[in-house]
Amino acid sequence: METASADIGKLLQELTLDEKIRLVHGASDPSGAATGYLPGVERLGIPELRLADGPLGVRSHGEPATAFPASIALAATFDPELAQRQGAAMGREARERNIDALLGPGVNLIRVPHCGRNFEYYSEDPMLTSAFAASMVEGIQSTDVIATPKHYVANNQETQRASIDVDVSEAALRECYLPGFKAAVDAGSGSVMTGYNGVNGTPMSEHRRLLLDVLKGEWGFDGYVVSDWFGTKSTVGSANGGLDLEMPGIDREEMWEAFGIEESDDGVFGEDEDLSEGMPDTGRSGLFAEPLAEAVESGDVPESRLDDMVERVLRQMSRIGLLGGGRSSHQADEAAHRTLAKRIAARGTVLLKNEDVLPLSDDADVAVIGPGIHEAKTGGGGSSEIEALNAVSAVDGIRGRADGDVSDARGVPEIDQVSFFGGGEDERGSDVGPEPSIEAAVDAASAADVSVVVVQDAATEAADRDSLQLPGDQDELVEAVADASARTVVVVQSSGPVELPWRDDVDAVLESWYPGQSDGDALATVLFGDADPGGRLPVTFAAESEYPTDGAAAFPGRDGTVEYDEGYFVGYRHFDANDAEAAYPFGHGLSYGTFAYRSVDVVDDRRVQVTLENTAERAGREVIQVYASPAESTGAKRPPRELAGFESVHVPAGETVTATVDLDDLAFRGYDDGWTELEGPFELAVGRSAEDVRLSTEL
Ligand code: BGC
Repeated sequence: METASADIGKLLQELTLDEKIRLVHGASDPSGAATGYLPGVERLGIPELRLADGPLGVRSHGEPATAFPASIALAATFDPELAQRQGAAMGREARERNIDALLGPGVNLIRVPHCGRNFEYYSEDPMLTSAFAASMVEGIQSTDVIATPKHYVANNQETQRASIDVDVSEAALRECYLPGFKAAVDAGSGSVMTGYNGVNGTPMSEHRRLLLDVLKGEWGFDGYVVSDWFGTKSTVGSANGGLDLEMPGIDREEMWEAFGIEESDDGVFGEDEDLSEGMPDTGRSGLFAEPLAEAVESGDVPESRLDDMVERVLRQMSRIGLLGGGRSSHQADEAAHRTLAKRIAARGTVLLKNEDVLPLSDDADVAVIGPGIHEAKTGGGGSSEIEALNAVSAVDGIRGRADGDVSDARGVPEIDQVSFFGGGEDERGSDVGPEPSIEAAVDAASAADVSVVVVQDAATEAADRDSLQLPGDQDELVEAVADASARTVVVVQSSGPVELPWRDDVDAVLESWYPGQSDGDALATVLFGDADPGGRLPVTFAAESEYPTDGAAAFPGRDGTVEYDEGYFVGYRHFDANDAEAAYPFGHGLSYGTFAYRSVDVVDDRRVQVTLENTAERAGREVIQVYASPAESTGAKRPPRELAGFESVHVPAGETVTATVDLDDLAFRGYDDGWTELEGPFELAVGRSAEDVRLSTEL
C-alpha cells in the first residue's frame, strides 16, 4: 500500500534541512552491496534505498546473479513479452539482494555502430527501442523495484562521453533519441538517469529544457531524475535545472572502500589510459551535500525546489512499499531464471546465413574452435558486468548435446576484456590447455564433419571499439578453418555490428551477441535444431564506411562537439535514403522454417492482418515486419520507410497462421516545430527485413 500523498506532505514538514539533503545525494552503503545508496531518516521511519546495476542482470557486489543475454540480444527477439519476463526476473533477484532500484534499462539509440555500450542498448530503431523499454520497465516494476532508464539523452558514444556535446536537431531528438525514454516514462518508470554528455551546449544533468520542460512538463514524469555516477557538474544549475538526486555522492576512494575492492592502478576508475577518454571526474562529488544546503540557505535554490526533489524520491519509495504498508513479496526462482536466460539467448540468436548446414545432425563430429570457447560470454566491460550464477561455455554446451565426437581448439589467444571492477584485464581461457595455434585449429577442423568457430569482440563502457573488425587474428582463424573444414559454421559474439569479411567462404553464420550465462547451452539448442534461431537484426550490419557516423565531425566529434548532421537518418533510415550498402539489413534473420507470405489486410488505421505459411518440414519462428512509407508529396525529405509494427510468431511445419500486427503512431508522424501527421496514403511494406519485402498494401 502506498503512503498517501498527504503523508509525504507531512514527512516534508517534519524533515529538517539536513535530513532533506541526506535524501538527495548518495552515501556509502554500509553493506557494501549497492552501487548507489541513500541512508534514509530513521527518526521518521524513512528506510534506506539501495540502487544497483543494471541492464543485463543484478550487480549487487559480492553476490552472483543470473547473467541474462545482452540487451541487444533481447531486442533481437523482436518479442517485448520476453523483456517483461526478464525485467520481472531481475526485479525478483534485486529484491532478494535487498536492492530497491535497478539502474536500467539502457535505452539509448544505437547511432555509432562500434559504440562501446551498444550491447547494453536495444536498437537503431526508435520504435523497437520503445517497445522493449516499456516492457522492461513494466517487468522490473511489477516486483516493486524502481526502474531507471538511462542515459537521458543522446548518450550515443563512449569516446569523451563525460564532456562531449551533441549538436542535434529537435526533429532528430523527437523522432529518434527521445521516444525510448518517453515510452519508459509512459510505462510508469519511477526514475530516469541523465547522461554524462551535453546536448546543444548544456550538460544533461542540468538541462532545464529537456529535464523540466520535456520530461517533467510535457511527459508528466513524476519520478526522480538521478545523475549518472560522477555526472553532476554543478550544484545550483543542476538543482534548478531539474536533477533530483546526485550519485554516487561520495568520491572514488570512498566508493572503492565501500565495495571492499582494492583500487588497482589500471582499474577503470583508476588510470587506465584506454578508458581515460570516457571517464568522468571521479573526484567531483558531494555537490548536493553541503553545497546544496548552502545554496538553499542563500536562496540560490528555492526551498520549494529541494522539497520537490525530496518528494519525488519519497513518492517512489512509497510506491514500492518502503514507507509503511509493506511490500509485495517476491521470490527468485534461480532455476526458472536460468531457463528464461537460455530461452532469450536462443530466441535472440540471428541466423545470418545458412547454406544447408544447420541444423546439425545429432551424430555429427564437431570441432569447436575459437579464443573464448572455454568461457561463457556473459557480457562486455563496465557497470553491467555480472558474476554469473550458472555459466556454460560453448564447448561444454555442445559436448552436452552432441552424440558425435567433439574436439576443441582455441586457435588464437583469448581476446582481452577490460574488467571495470578490480582493474586490469581478465585472463580468460589462459588456463585451458596448450598455447593456441591456428595450425592446431586447422587439424581439428579437418578431422571433423563440421567446424563451429566462435569469434568475439570485447566491448566495454568508457571506450568505443577501435573499428568494426574482430580483434586479434580471428578473421585469419576463420579463413584458415573454412579452407580446411568440410563445413564451417561461424558464431559471432559481438556487442553490435561487426564486419564479416569471410562471410562468402563459410556455410553458416550465427550472430549470438553476448549470450549471457547460458552461452553454450543456448548455442547447442540452436545448432542442433532443438530451438529455431528466432532473432532478427535490431541494427544494420555493414562496412564501417557505410554508416552516417563515418567522418570526424559525426564521430567522435571535433573540439568537443559531435554533429548529428544525419538528423533522423539513423540506421536503416540512412541506408535506405542513401542507397548505402548493408551486408545484412535491419530486420534480417533466417529461420529453420520457410515462409510464404499469403496476404495482408488492413483492419483499421493502426492494425493489419498478415497470413503466412511455413512451407518447410520443420517448425520455425517468423518475425513479421511492417514498414510504412509516407506519400511522395510529403514536404521535408523523409526516411523512405520506417518500422511501424512487428510480431514474432511460431509456425508449425506446413501450417498457415494469421497474425494481427499493431502499428505505432511514430511511423505516421513527423516532427517539425511540433508533431504533425504525415501525409498519406501510406504504403505498408510487409516482409522479412527492411529490404526483403514480400507484400504491400495501402493505408
Ligand atoms: C554508468 C551507468 C551506471 C553507473 C553506476 C556509470 O559509469 O554510465 O550506466 O549505472 O556507472 O554503476
